[in-house]
Amino acid sequence: MKDVKITKKRKDDHINYSLKENVQSYRTAGFEDVEFIHHSLPEVNFREIETGIEILGKKLDYPLIISAITGGTERAKKINENIARVCNEFNIGMGVGSQRAMIEDSSLEYTYEVREYAGDILLLANLGLPQFILGYTEKEAEKAVKTIDADALAVHLNALQEIVQPEGDTEFKGGLKALKKLKKSVDFPIIAKETGAGISRETAEKLSFLDGIDIGGLGGTSFSAVEYYRIKDSQKEIARLFWDWGIPTVQSIIETRSYTDLLIATGGIRSGIDIAKSIAIGADCCGIALPVLKVAEDYEKLEKQIRNILLSLKKTMFLLGCENIEDLKRTTVIIKGKMREILEIRGYSDIINEFSKR
Ligand SMILES: Cc1cc2nc3c(=O)[nH]c(=O)nc-3n(C[C@H](O)[C@H](O)[C@H](O)COP(=O)(O)O)c2cc1C
Repeated sequence: MKDVKITKKRKDDHINYSLKENVQSYRTAGFEDVEFIHHSLPEVNFREIETGIEILGKKLDYPLIISAITGGTERAKKINENIARVCNEFNIGMGVGSQRAMIEDSSLEYTYEVREYAGDILLLANLGLPQFILGYTEKEAEKAVKTIDADALAVHLNALQEIVQPEGDTEFKGGLKALKKLKKSVDFPIIAKETGAGISRETAEKLSFLDGIDIGGLGGTSFSAVEYYRIKDSQKEIARLFWDWGIPTVQSIIETRSYTDLLIATGGIRSGIDIAKSIAIGADCCGIALPVLKVAEDYEKLEKQIRNILLSLKKTMFLLGCENIEDLKRTTVIIKGKMREILEIRGYSDIINEFSKR
């Protein structure tokens, strides 16, 4: 029971610090180096633009998932309920936060059970890789998925968060083996999800047997920053040191795109323009967490925020002359500046040239 208390306290701390303090990385996701070419003759009618996609067996009206944030406390329950309602209203996807708390204490299951507000939307369960390394099996995975009637399980890879936490789980040996075993023993889709430090091509290649990858790139919420505020002892300075650690979202999308059939781009997505850029360079869908959390306790504000993000995606598509998401995947993109430099060093000159010659 002591562990449950610590897990719950940690969840509340994460929410409190994310709401009150600056928990964003100072390095950007890289979208400032991704440019579109404006079309003065778009040859499309705004009202006819189709933004729908189909992933993990569900149709979404827009390529967006509200990413895993929380669960396990009374406050988290209300946040999850509001997020589920708004996702249902716009028919977009939702991920619940780590379900470790309800695995440890089943009386907390209700804080994650959002299906009654979520209608039939895409719903993702969530558990951490460290737990599977330390002994969780398909039993816990099935419980996480079945309890909330989820469509898939996201297994979060949070090595950065664990290593900066003085009490973190730092046994990561056997991680890939644990994921392979899990994938073989369950019949629902499994995606691997980073939590803000990005996924490289080397890691993506190893994860290609899964049903999808959420690259969770650098440029939005920094878990090192969140932990920085929680740490009270001398290790605080170490968390500050790793504040901007990771692979920016734009770089991570390009590194991962050829290794998975479902690439979800999360980390610093802040507008419909960011969503459009992510899709144009290889993502299938995007995820947003922090800006949603900031307004999640006020339904009206939450609804307005999501409406504007989705509307700005559609307006971007209009200005690019894209009638649907497939058109967006083929639109011309210029990669410049620092991001171009990094990508060229990593060997992506051909892809950058292909983007600009579309
Ligand atoms: C308060 C908070 C709690 C989070 N908890 C989880 C979690 O339990 N599981 C997970 O996979 N990701 C978690 N995340 C990470 C997000 O799902 C997302 O990948 C990350 O915040 C980057 O997106 P953003 O820049 O839009 O916030 C959390 C994020 C925040 C802000």
